[in-house]
Amino acid sequence: MKIGNVELNTRVALAPMAGTTDLAFRAVCRELSGCYTVTEMVSVMGLCYGDKKTTSLLKLGEGERPAAVQIFGSREDFVERGAALALEQSGADILDINMGCPMPKEVREGNGAALMRDPEKAARIAKAAIRGAAGKPVTVKFRLGWDSGSINCVEFARRMEDAGVSAVAVHGRTRAQLYRPAANWDYIRQVKEAVSVPVIANGDVFTPRDAVRILNITGADMVMVGRGAQGNPWLLRQCAAALEGRDIPPLPPLAERCGVIARQFELIRAQKGERVACLEMRKQYMWYLRGVAYAAYWKEQICKMETAEDFYRITDGVKRDLA
Ligand SMILES: Cc1cc2nc3c(=O)[nH]c(=O)nc-3n(C[C@H](O)[C@H](O)[C@H](O)COP(=O)(O)O)c2cc1C
Repeated sequence: MKIGNVELNTRVALAPMAGTTDLAFRAVCRELSGCYTVTEMVSVMGLCYGDKKTTSLLKLGEGERPAAVQIFGSREDFVERGAALALEQSGADILDINMGCPMPKEVREGNGAALMRDPEKAARIAKAAIRGAAGKPVTVKFRLGWDSGSINCVEFARRMEDAGVSAVAVHGRTRAQLYRPAANWDYIRQVKEAVSVPVIANGDVFTPRDAVRILNITGADMVMVGRGAQGNPWLLRQCAAALEGRDIPPLPPLAERCGVIARQFELIRAQKGERVACLEMRKQYMWYLRGVAYAAYWKEQICKMETAEDFYRITDGVKRDLA
């Protein structure tokens, strides 16, 4: 599979998820599965004004290549400059533009999914990003449309292709649907039939079987996994195995999973320090323990952890009591 001139050796992508797919989680996913990764969405305004927090989101992990940085914005001048800065500062191979974010704060400013209501403007934004990317491939991630009465993903994908993008990722829901009900994969198939650039299918892949089904139904080139990977990075390698027709590796025992949790903790700690690592790992650790029986006591402890010592005391407890 190729996006522009960039060769990808996998058909599985980790979806960009703000607050989840930071450098540490992407590293863990990649180490387990070799998946393609995209950063959390990064504001072109923040980049152009040199905002430190925004810039820090661009950092890729060691060996995290090929990978994409995702930007969002709705002013051509900022998008062009932001695209150049994002690629320069991250060293990423691919630039992705977010045209699917449903958050009121963003759509009010014309960002994210708001661009689906104005495909002409969206095409100008894509062209601005392509100018800024100076030869590196640009992709666009969007939804089916704004709401059920204005589904325009097929026409929108064609416009993006005409604007010069190298691939499109389609989340099979409208902006109005947010993350429920079930994603509609038939529309993704229609997009695939309408364009000749690669199509990345996204929405509701929670099992390896879903990964096979979504590609069978849509004919898409790649599957993108979001919420299913939260607390379960092993899903990505299970999906990869299923798509390659290999035996699906079982979820490792909890004690082994704890090693991956600790790896993620240490990666955040190295980048952001002990305190932030503890705060950020609280939510992620809870996801890792989803479905683990008798975990209530340790979950309560996780919600309060503040030091690395807390983290390792809890992790030893989890291994001793729950594994
Ligand atoms: C917490 C959260 C944060 C997200 N952040 C982003 C983002 O930064 N950029 C983006 O394009 N999509 C974002 N998404 C959407 C996902 O990339 C994906 O399209 C969506 O979750 C559907 O896939 P899934 O059903 O596999 O979760 C986010 C989703 C969630 C749940």
